[in-house]
Amino acid sequence: MRILVLVLALLSSTRAQDKCNPRVYDYDSVVCVCDASYCDNPGIITFPEKGKFTLVTSTKDGLRFNVEEFPVSNEEDPDAVVVTINPEDEYQIILGFGGAFTDSTGLNVVSLPEDAQEHFYNSYFTSEGIGYTIGRIPIAGADCSTRTYSYDDVAGDVDLQHFNLTFEDYDYKIPVIKRAKELSPELKLFGSPWSPPAWMKTNGMFNQSGTLIKEYWQPWANYIVKFLDAYEAEGVELWGLTPQNEPMGGFQADWHINVCGWTSLDMRDWIKNNLGPTLQAAGYRRLKMMVDDFNRDTLTWYVEPMLEDPDSAQYIDGIAIHWYEDKYVGPHILDKTQALAPDKFLLYSEACFEKGVKLGSWDRGMEYLHFMMEALNHHCVGWVDWNLALDTEGGPNWASNWLDAPIIINPEAGEFYKEPIFYAIGHLSKFVEPGAVRISSTTTDYMLDVAAFNDPSGRKVVVLLNRGDAEIKVSLTDGSDIFVNFGMEAGAIQTILY
Ligand SMILES: *[C@@H]1O[C@H](CO)[C@@H](O)[C@H](O)[C@H]1NC(C)=O
Ligand SMILES: *[C@@H]1O[C@H](CO)[C@@H](O)[C@H](O)[C@H]1NC(C)=O
Repeated sequence: MRILVLVLALLSSTRAQDKCNPRVYDYDSVVCVCDASYCDNPGIITFPEKGKFTLVTSTKDGLRFNVEEFPVSNEEDPDAVVVTINPEDEYQIILGFGGAFTDSTGLNVVSLPEDAQEHFYNSYFTSEGIGYTIGRIPIAGADCSTRTYSYDDVAGDVDLQHFNLTFEDYDYKIPVIKRAKELSPELKLFGSPWSPPAWMKTNGMFNQSGTLIKEYWQPWANYIVKFLDAYEAEGVELWGLTPQNEPMGGFQADWHINVCGWTSLDMRDWIKNNLGPTLQAAGYRRLKMMVDDFNRDTLTWYVEPMLEDPDSAQYIDGIAIHWYEDKYVGPHILDKTQALAPDKFLLYSEACFEKGVKLGSWDRGMEYLHFMMEALNHHCVGWVDWNLALDTEGGPNWASNWLDAPIIINPEAGEFYKEPIFYAIGHLSKFVEPGAVRISSTTTDYMLDVAAFNDPSGRKVVVLLNRGDAEIKVSLTDGSDIFVNFGMEAGAIQTILY
């Protein structure tokens, strides 16, 4: 009896400790504070026994992954918003969710005390955390670096004799990626270059308007293979590649961050004549190549020529999309792109809020999740966020391009803060596993966002976001005689497992 009491006391104390340690800053909700000695941990949240449903809730008021279990009903609630899912109407298979191992992320992470670093890794890369399974790696520098550099800054070195990884790889990227991979062994890693060496470009600069000088088309393909080889030699094997981050940015005179301009036709020709054959000859044909890697206003016209030419299309596996224009270009463009290339997958490869950090902004969390669900409801197989972590200013960033991230690190305090965005992403990434299949869903209230999935185990995962400003009741049905009835606060995010 005494042992039982002790065990119960221990269980309830660990449960209490799992909660968010809230702190209020300048915005409408809280951040959850983690340090060397403490971090909130939702643990593994499993499907309930049949006849019940699990309701996981996060709210502006400060609930984070709050777990409750209720019996399902066999009656619809007549006063409720009706959500209907159709498990027979299946769409794309989910690949996963993730974020980017930038120089700035790594620099911030390694500045934390070791135990706090472990909390960081657990938060993102374990099934007790939000279960990330994809990671993006900038090939050499991006704006989220402390300086501009490439792996070969010796002008005219066409044979790449001076090619070498840099201290950023050895200190900020490789060790961080390796720890993440230990915790998430299936982690799929893809590389993206921001700019070739400045001397390979028409303008001789890492940024602004410039393209790759034609005689360097082959050396630049060789450079990418050297990067893949160098990372493999360090024990980091890549799964995929985008040939250029934001290629259309490199035609704008005021583009302030690292870039290289590629027209759609040049990209097609470079892939079919240089990059594709070079990767193949070097044994990297298994790499998933994803083209575009820019906002959806460049779809579908940018990818059309390279997908229509079988000589370039043979090397292309998917289309990578950035989030920054989603507000201005509707999701129909995703449907159109999928129809153009039904055998290629669509993956969001970058997203973040710009102009700095807003600690505790619930609005940002809601906006993010809204667009994530929209993408998933229009054929996308996953979502890869930008920096996994930044400092409280939203950097470092050599170009003063301050950004926000789901985790903000305060190295002086030895702390990090999990933003509402972290939990918003987690309501999908923690529960919608790779291999889950998106199914159709409808709702009678357009301010209630819904995305629904068949889990590989045969159970259902439904994610909901109440964007309205009133509390609502929801009655969820899948066409059988099962009804899942529950309430949702204004602004609430909920995941249903049943
Ligand atoms: C490459 O960089 C590493 C780490 O900075 C250094 O130890 C090594 O000597 C460099 N190799 C070459 C060939 O420069
Ligand atoms: C481009 O980068 C250089 C540093 O390499 C910087 O001085 C310049 O201001 C940048 N251009 C723009 C438009 O920001």
